[in-house]
Amino acid sequence: EKDGFDHFMLKEIHEQPRAYRDTIGNRLLGAYPWVHLPELTLTPERIRLFRRVHIVACGTAYHAGLVGKQALERWARIPAEADVASEYRYRSPLVAEDTLVIVVSQSGETADTLAALREAKRQGAHVIAITNVVGSSVAREADDVLFTMAGPEISVASTKAYSTQLLAFYILALHMARARRSLPDEEFAPIVEALRKLPEQAEQALKQAEEIRSYAEEISHHRHLFFLGRGMDYAVAQEGSLKLKEISYIHSEAYAAGELKHGTLALIEEGTPVVALATQPELYEKTVSNIREVMARGATVLGIASPSGSRGDANLASRVDRVLTIPDTHPMLTPALSVIPLQLLAYYASTALGYDVDKPRNLAKSVTVE
Ligand code: F6R
Repeated sequence: EKDGFDHFMLKEIHEQPRAYRDTIGNRLLGAYPWVHLPELTLTPERIRLFRRVHIVACGTAYHAGLVGKQALERWARIPAEADVASEYRYRSPLVAEDTLVIVVSQSGETADTLAALREAKRQGAHVIAITNVVGSSVAREADDVLFTMAGPEISVASTKAYSTQLLAFYILALHMARARRSLPDEEFAPIVEALRKLPEQAEQALKQAEEIRSYAEEISHHRHLFFLGRGMDYAVAQEGSLKLKEISYIHSEAYAAGELKHGTLALIEEGTPVVALATQPELYEKTVSNIREVMARGATVLGIASPSGSRGDANLASRVDRVLTIPDTHPMLTPALSVIPLQLLAYYASTALGYDVDKPRNLAKSVTVE
């Protein structure tokens, strides 16, 4: 049942091209109205009346929410916040009928997420669930459901659930952008086209597994490392860091690249491994200067770049110790591809250390206590 893979996690990482195809399904169209989501009861009128979005989830699903927040703000031009579910209810969030609450949960059974959903509904919000499990509590109780088509996820460390949650957010953000008339017509085509290329590009990204395996072996001897990035890269850095901690037990921290100099730089010393994501064209120069700062303190840097993200600078490779390049895509979509090397890094670090990847210590697949 592992299809020849050593672990479910590796199998599920490799299923992402298929999961992308299925999650896109026939939800994207080659022309106006671009997005087809007949499962939503929300009308365009109601979508126009929303004044804010709250995204609530735990762990990896929360990290997908960090990307979703940026897509909703940029495309649908609606203020969006993302919260971890165990914090959300206790900060007395400002929820009313003009609030859209999006809960994200692979299993649809996470206790904190479910409690947040109930509280949001009690206060009159409209709740959309992004979930992978048909018939789950979250799917049953939400006003609307957008299913991810990842298929059953067995590995405790979530991979294809996260990446299909990203796709669900992108599609929902485009749908809302159309209803709100917030994105110029000519911007839909390139985004939709880029989304449709993701399955094939995810396949290409998987081909770098061997390179990542050798890097993972090197870092497996270290006790801590950093993931750096700005914007979308910072969001995905947080997921990469969680994945590594969860299954390799190597301590890591994800840092907004520009924030490093406000204290954390003190932890960088000779040989500290740093994974630096630099896929965002508008942030590239700034990120490169942050990379220089860590290198000046002796860090060894793996850069993750994208062809158009580096604005024609072919030199990232000469600046850092190694570079991995992800296939070229729209800057908002890079997490769907850059997460793949990060998942593989966590996987190979764990196997290099001889751990049971699919059953990390202290963790359960579904967390049903608050
Ligand atoms: C990490 C991981 C967890 C889950 C979290 C939420 O790899 O799997 O962080 O993402 O427990 O679970 P769901 O999505 O089922 O609500």
